[in-house]
Amino acid sequence: MSVDEEREEKIVDLIKIADEKLKYAYARYSNIRVVSILISRDGTIYYGVNIENASYGLTICAERVAIFKAVSEGKTNFSKILIYSPDTIPWPCGACRQVMSEFFSSDVEVIIAYKEENKIKYVKTTFEELFPGKYRFKIA
Ligand code: THU
Repeated sequence: MSVDEEREEKIVDLIKIADEKLKYAYARYSNIRVVSILISRDGTIYYGVNIENASYGLTICAERVAIFKAVSEGKTNFSKILIYSPDTIPWPCGACRQVMSEFFSSDVEVIIAYKEENKIKYVKTTFEELFPGKYRFKIA
């Protein structure tokens, strides 16, 4: 098996795990369920789901849930994030991209996975491509 095939296989495995976590998405208003799987550089895995609120505005996306879980446990260095939804193509919103930019270096792998005609598809990109020109508090 080539290195590329092995990588593809790992992504498919991660999507299967994300699919199992779908049941935890609290999406009673939009019915759009999203799961994120965040992997820290030491290999720890954090899961997040979207958690909606009757006020709508207080809804939090799956990506931020995973990031905040990780940071609250002392992890701030990440290698990969997978975002999966069977209900839409879950490109991260602007708020999540800004939060990611606090912790993600440009090489963090970003995988956006979705379902089309009942088949799993995914797009692989990097944080640099997703969010170029990030705002910094000070020029280093
Ligand atoms: N949502 C996420 O959790 N992540 C994304 O990448 C896009 C949007 C959620 C927020 C809300 O609960 C639902 O999807 C519909 O916007």
